[in-house]
Amino acid sequence: MRIDVLTLFPEIFSGYLGQSVLKKAIDRGLVQVLLHNIRDWSHDKKHHKVDDRPFGGGPGMVLMAPPVVECVEAVQAQAEPGRLVMLTPQGRRLTQPIVEELARHQRLLLLCGRYEGFDERIRLILKPDEISIGDYVLNGGEVAAMVMIDAVIRLIPGVLGDEESSCLDSFSGPERLLDYPQYTRPRCYRGYEVPAVLLSGNHQAVRRWRLQEQRRLTAQRRADLLQHGLSSEQCEHIVETPADPPSASGQ
Ligand code: ADE
Repeated sequence: MRIDVLTLFPEIFSGYLGQSVLKKAIDRGLVQVLLHNIRDWSHDKKHHKVDDRPFGGGPGMVLMAPPVVECVEAVQAQAEPGRLVMLTPQGRRLTQPIVEELARHQRLLLLCGRYEGFDERIRLILKPDEISIGDYVLNGGEVAAMVMIDAVIRLIPGVLGDEESSCLDSFSGPERLLDYPQYTRPRCYRGYEVPAVLLSGNHQAVRRWRLQEQRRLTAQRRADLLQHGLSSEQCEHIVETPADPPSASGQ
């Protein structure tokens, strides 16, 4: 996958691009991330200005249409056209199904805003897919773009090893539930035992317990995720059903 990031602050990405899963994916040629500085398309050759005061008054600065539109068009023309995403708090909220849809593209262009927003003509001309990472306002789209890249690349075949496969993640799988609780050694810590079923060696019982825990946790914490699959009575039943009691023997 090729990801083009269009930003006023390309330096923000350098630490993130050089670390962990993304670095490995880049080194293995599975992902290519190209950074483009919108300022390079400024019409102001002296100060490289890309923003101006809003018509009608008000606080802050607005990103001007010409440098942004021309930057996107020039970058699009560098390869087969890709999906243009604008990171903005006004967009549709990012969810795992949207991440899955984005991961199916060969190429993404991520347009990061700053200041008080984009001149509306940028939206009208480029018709981007506007996406927000949540109902809060960031100082710009760069962190949101990193969140999106992080979520998308883990779905690209070969990026994660088999043992860390993404299909078992929270919000994935047929029911899109929260993840189940995990335990590792020691078996007992400060009086808290590992649930006996996880030590039983009974794989079917372990699978059943994990699914039950996923449904219980999701009903308890994020009933909104269940609303399409279960009735409210079913949700109440799940919330009230306790998980396996801690094992007394620690076996
Ligand atoms: N830019 C500023 N806030 C944002 C948000 N919540 N999501 C995406 N981009 C943003």
